[in-house]
Amino acid sequence: MIKRTYPQSRLRRTRSKGFLRDLVAENHLSTNDLIQPIFIADQSELKVEIPSMPGIFRHNLESLYVETEELVKKGIKSVAIFPAIDSNKKDQKGSHAFDENNIVCMALRGLADKFPDVIKIADVALDPFTDHGHDGVLLDGKVDNDQTLELLKDQALLLAQSGADVLAPSDMMDGRVRLIRDTLESNRFVDTVILSYAAKYASSFYGPFREAVGSSANLGNASKKTYQMNFTNLDEALHETAMDIEEGADIVMVKPGTAYLDVVHAIKSEFQIPTFVYQVSGEYSMLKLSIEKGWLDKDVMLESLLCCKRAGADAILTYAAKQIASELNS
Ligand code: PBG
Repeated sequence: MIKRTYPQSRLRRTRSKGFLRDLVAENHLSTNDLIQPIFIADQSELKVEIPSMPGIFRHNLESLYVETEELVKKGIKSVAIFPAIDSNKKDQKGSHAFDENNIVCMALRGLADKFPDVIKIADVALDPFTDHGHDGVLLDGKVDNDQTLELLKDQALLLAQSGADVLAPSDMMDGRVRLIRDTLESNRFVDTVILSYAAKYASSFYGPFREAVGSSANLGNASKKTYQMNFTNLDEALHETAMDIEEGADIVMVKPGTAYLDVVHAIKSEFQIPTFVYQVSGEYSMLKLSIEKGWLDKDVMLESLLCCKRAGADAILTYAAKQIASELNS
């Protein structure tokens, strides 16, 4: 590091005017970096606001297409679809996940038809479909890794067949990336991207999401700590990521975002592979609510996303994508 002395160096010089600050800015955020998660449901209303996520809605299919059109106009070209499933369609195995006419598959087919260029990301995990709210199946009261793998494999193939460009396993079972990759290869889905939730922590920041997809009631007091990572750990995140890359992941992801940027930085530095971060529901809601109350300036949202870029994230899943795109365009 060069030794900088005063007043030969006045670091305030390059901060003195807005355009200068822009010229020396080290990181940038554009709509190319943003992915909009969208909740969908089989409902008669076009869209229903999620109480714990101001400004975020559950859409029916008609409204999903309107929303996607608006996103594309604002320059957001990637969406991640999450379904809220009727409770009478949930069971212990998540059987409805394998029905090609479930709402996710219908949405993917509709989007593929209407928006062929939009990147359609589909979550691979059973929690929207199970009556116990876990991401896998239970055996003797425990989430069974290897039985779950067999189901995730079928779910992944169906999602690819329905038009998903990117499969995002968020279940945190061991070995799932390899099995999904092998399944895609043997069914000639050679260009389907795997975006693995490589370092996904057991976090309380997911609360509003679980309300949005309706899994919180099913899950009750149960936790996901036997499969999602312990938030004390960083080395383990590197091990998880190394394994997922070896097993065939094209892109890896860290989740949650803001409180886990050391993990993003470590992974990006170690592997130099496309690395995404998920600014999750709880993070969004905390900021959004404070902005609505006037407790925080609205710029806090952009700041939180730029900090993700500074940490090394190549792209960010954020519920604020659409709102931020409007600001970036103005
Ligand atoms: C489920 C899944 C979760 C999220 C994405 N996929 C919740 C969970 O693991 O319980 C969280 C996203 C968010 O909080 O915004 N497999």
